[in-house]
Amino acid sequence: MSTYLPNDDMASFSRVLSKSKHIIAVAGAGLSAASGIPTFRGAGGFWRKYDAISLATPEAFRNNPSRVWQFYHYRREKALQCEPNPAHMALAAFSNKQIREVLAPRSTFTLITQNVDGLSRRALDSIPSSVPGIDIDAGAIDSQPVLLEMHGRLFDVVCTSSACGHRELNFTSPIVPALAGTEKFVEAADIEPEIPTTDLPRCSKCGALARPGVVWFGEVPHYLDVISKLVDKADLCIVVGTSSTVYPAAGYASEVQDHGGKVAVFNLDRSEGDEDADFLFLGPCEKTLPAALGLKKD
Ligand code: OAD
Ligand code: ZN
Repeated sequence: MSTYLPNDDMASFSRVLSKSKHIIAVAGAGLSAASGIPTFRGAGGFWRKYDAISLATPEAFRNNPSRVWQFYHYRREKALQCEPNPAHMALAAFSNKQIREVLAPRSTFTLITQNVDGLSRRALDSIPSSVPGIDIDAGAIDSQPVLLEMHGRLFDVVCTSSACGHRELNFTSPIVPALAGTEKFVEAADIEPEIPTTDLPRCSKCGALARPGVVWFGEVPHYLDVISKLVDKADLCIVVGTSSTVYPAAGYASEVQDHGGKVAVFNLDRSEGDEDADFLFLGPCEKTLPAALGLKKD
């Protein structure tokens, strides 16, 4: 990485923000770090003795659905205990058209998140006057979505039978009795209960084995067509708490820059490609993002 650092002046960022018309934010695990959700890479990227990334594959699930379900059960339980932090709240407030009108008049905004923890949705829902999230699965394709959870959701449960494919939202804790308490074993030396597949979550329609409704490595993320249109017209891309190592999300910022848009990176540390950003705000995004968006509460 070069020693040159992009602009970190909040006032110049505010000027760019105020002139932007089509704004997107691309978020990663760092957005939820202050809420207590472990990130994937670096410290916290391990669960028991496994690298979190090695468990997020269809092969891992095929080879050991009991282990992979215990990992996702742990993450579901964790997410249920956590609350949205000031960075989620700032993005949710910025999604509100009335609030945005002051900061970036006549602009559009969509948050594209790689996170599956549901905290951005909860932040949106907690803002009383917020524009309700538009569920594009429900067919509202013409309206611009507020939030796109491109890597799926921890609380979606999907049938593994391709003939069925039933998907449903399920917040049950624990999702099945056999997983109860297994979330407490998170250290390398912890015992690993072996749960028969018959006791793992099953499809409520056809009874086949169900899987977490998240996008694994090697699978295609959701909403790619919609996202590609948003990226094409974006004149500002706000990159929050992502290592920018997983494609396609990692490529959106440079696509926006390629057609003349600006990029602002908010990350605790240096991240892939950040030297090319127009703005780089190093530090915890729960502090820097509310400040940069002019939504700091004090
Ligand atoms: P990573 O764990 O790769 O990166 C998290 C980033 O957040 C790092 O760059 C940290 O420096 C930064 N960070 C940590 N705490 C922060 C804070 N308080 N404020 C700002 N930044 C902070 O997570 P992702 O980039 O989200 O995919 O990873 C991308 C994808 O890889 C995930 O969606 C997941 C993963 O494997 C799948 O499971 C398909
Ligand atoms: Zn089914």
